[in-house]
Amino acid sequence: MLVIPVSVHPAYEVRVGAGLLSECGEQIRKACGGGSSCAVVTDSHVAPLYGAKVRAGLEAAGVRVVELVVPAGEATKCFEQVAGVCEAMAAGRLDRGSFLVALGGGVVGDLAGFAASVFLRGIPYAQLPTTLLAQVDSSVGGKTGINLRCGKNLVGVFHQPRLVLADTETHSSLPARICNEGLAECIKHGVIRDRELAVRAVDLMRDNPAAFVARNVAIKAAIVADDEFETKGIRALLNFGHTLGHAIEQSAGYGTLLHGEAIAIGMAAALDLSVRKAGLPKDEAAAVLAQIQQAGLPTRLPAGLDTHAILEAMSRDKKFRDGRIRFILADRLGSARMDEDLTAEDLGAALERLGRP
Ligand SMILES: NC(=O)c1ccc[n+]([C@@H]2O[C@H](COP(=O)([O-])OP(=O)(O)OC[C@H]3O[C@@H](n4cnc5c(N)ncnc54)[C@H](O)[C@@H]3O)[C@@H](O)[C@H]2O)c1
Ligand SMILES: [Zn+2]
Repeated sequence: MLVIPVSVHPAYEVRVGAGLLSECGEQIRKACGGGSSCAVVTDSHVAPLYGAKVRAGLEAAGVRVVELVVPAGEATKCFEQVAGVCEAMAAGRLDRGSFLVALGGGVVGDLAGFAASVFLRGIPYAQLPTTLLAQVDSSVGGKTGINLRCGKNLVGVFHQPRLVLADTETHSSLPARICNEGLAECIKHGVIRDRELAVRAVDLMRDNPAAFVARNVAIKAAIVADDEFETKGIRALLNFGHTLGHAIEQSAGYGTLLHGEAIAIGMAAALDLSVRKAGLPKDEAAAVLAQIQQAGLPTRLPAGLDTHAILEAMSRDKKFRDGRIRFILADRLGSARMDEDLTAEDLGAALERLGRP
């Protein structure tokens, strides 16, 4: 088992290894304050795969388990589901000494984390992330959130988990496309903090999944610890590829491109702009682009997706209301900074240079 401390308030650990779900009960109970009852929130895909294992682990540690299964999919991150989870926890007689366990991908983590933050004004929770994206990204950092009809992640709070257990055996049931989109975030971590990760992510993941996940968690944990509440501009570096990626995801129509796929295209454009505006060597950008492609991710705009529509979507983004475009550029691999001088024309031109298949 690999352990990565996350130095936030309160501090907690991310533990990574194969088979961790089988031995989760006592670890979670201890980290979450020793309570004797909990809710396990999971989704309709994950429940049949890992629900019984987690329940057995918790019950073996003397914890009464109320299992709540929400529908799989992004639409579940809504107020109605938060209400449903809270109602079920109250009906299951959970109290302030109880805790919540989020078992699943980022959707379950964000929804359940949010429910834990408001139920009885906040109860402890643990994350058991089961997608690569959730293990390397969404379960670390304490951001919880749900969507509104007019945009994603517009409601949420910071509520740090007490423990994260990332079991790499869960990768075996992940569809390849979902695993690949997690690799997009890993390549992103590489670009901003770790050159080898940016150019060898696919091999590193194949050779040693636990070490690979831990390496990514360490990067995200260090950034989060330096900027817990996203006020210092450090956490913003995690938005590499996301300024355009979010806009691409949205203008393609949610569900057409997976988040990681849209981010892959956004990173391709950000690499191009990094070469032109920040001095990133061309061959370094090409090496990352090759890695994105090796991960089975797109690097060109989908046919029929209009650049103007993407820029229009970007201007509606919650982060750009003040009119300035904050764009993350890499001056070399492993080092990134925020730029505020790029224009919409610069971004449009970079998108056009990507071309279409
Ligand atoms: N809080 C944060 O800091 C943060 C960061 C990044 C992303 N997010 C959020 O995370 C969400 C995306 O997370 P995701 O990609 O994990 O999506 P997800 O939770 O929807 O999971 C993807 C799919 O895989 C299924 N699944 C999960 N684990 C599985 C397994 N082991 N085997 C088989 N199927 C499995 C799920 O049921 C779902 O159908 C988005 O809502 C995004 O906003 C949050
Ligand atoms: Zn992302």
